[in-house]
Amino acid sequence: MIWGYHDYGTGAQAPVPIKLNIQDYCHALITGSTGSGKSYALMFLIGCLLKASPETEIFICDFKNSEDFRFLKDYPLYFTGEHCYEGVMAYYRRFNDARETGQTHKRRILIFDEYPAYTFFQAMKDKDNKTKYSSDITNAIATILMLGRGLKHGVWLVTQRADANLFANGTRDDFLVLIGLGRLSKEQKGMIFTGEEIPNEPMQRGEGYLLADGHELMKVKFPLISDIKDWKWHIYDILMRNLEHNRDSSQSTPLA
Ligand SMILES: Nc1ncnc2c1ncn2[C@@H]1O[C@H](COP(=O)(O)OP(=O)(O)O)[C@@H](O)[C@H]1O
Ligand SMILES: [Mg+2]
Repeated sequence: MIWGYHDYGTGAQAPVPIKLNIQDYCHALITGSTGSGKSYALMFLIGCLLKASPETEIFICDFKNSEDFRFLKDYPLYFTGEHCYEGVMAYYRRFNDARETGQTHKRRILIFDEYPAYTFFQAMKDKDNKTKYSSDITNAIATILMLGRGLKHGVWLVTQRADANLFANGTRDDFLVLIGLGRLSKEQKGMIFTGEEIPNEPMQRGEGYLLADGHELMKVKFPLISDIKDWKWHIYDILMRNLEHNRDSSQSTPLA
């Protein structure tokens, strides 16, 4: 699938896409400060994923319940706010089913926008209520990051900052694609792109660096989506049709 474009400068050449196959590059981390274009890049990437692999079953968790993803409100695998817990755990059950039965014909991706904001919120709540929901989530995510690739189950996490907490149960290397958008602090560069030399150049919205397993560090640029309404409509349409298809071809209901 297309993961954005190489920096194409101001020339008249056609932009050159960065292509990485979804089979080998199923886990991704997208980081950048507020307004750097993370959610917008996500919208672009979801469309590209469905173009490359239209049958992918996508679970979408949007802790902030942002306007960007509200077009998915009738999609049963879209979760907001505290319901993100159900989203991750439902995905984790699917993952475990695939692991136990060895049936790995179905590709799935779990997408979580503002993941650390959720785990932080949940951890505070757990403290008050003596529950342990936040560790359920982090353990589930860590397990999928470690074992998901061979089972066609991926995770894309979107975060404002990458810190050691995020990598506590797994490692940075579990993310096969790392994207840092906008201006990153020295500390953030070190955390995301350890050991890579990154020049100190100005970055526009939707611009940054991409490091894919086995590749050199690349500059990446996410394009302006010319007809965002149409883009969203296509995403919604494919996701809903997939759901119907899955319902017809399997015994289980989406959230069973
Ligand atoms: N690649 C891009 N091209 C043009 N505009 C963009 C791009 N990415 C983001 N924007 C604009 O910037 C705004 C903020 O982007 P957003 O993705 O919401 O940031 P973040 O999720 O990192 O806080 C969006 O509403 C959009 O209008
Ligand atoms: Mg956002």
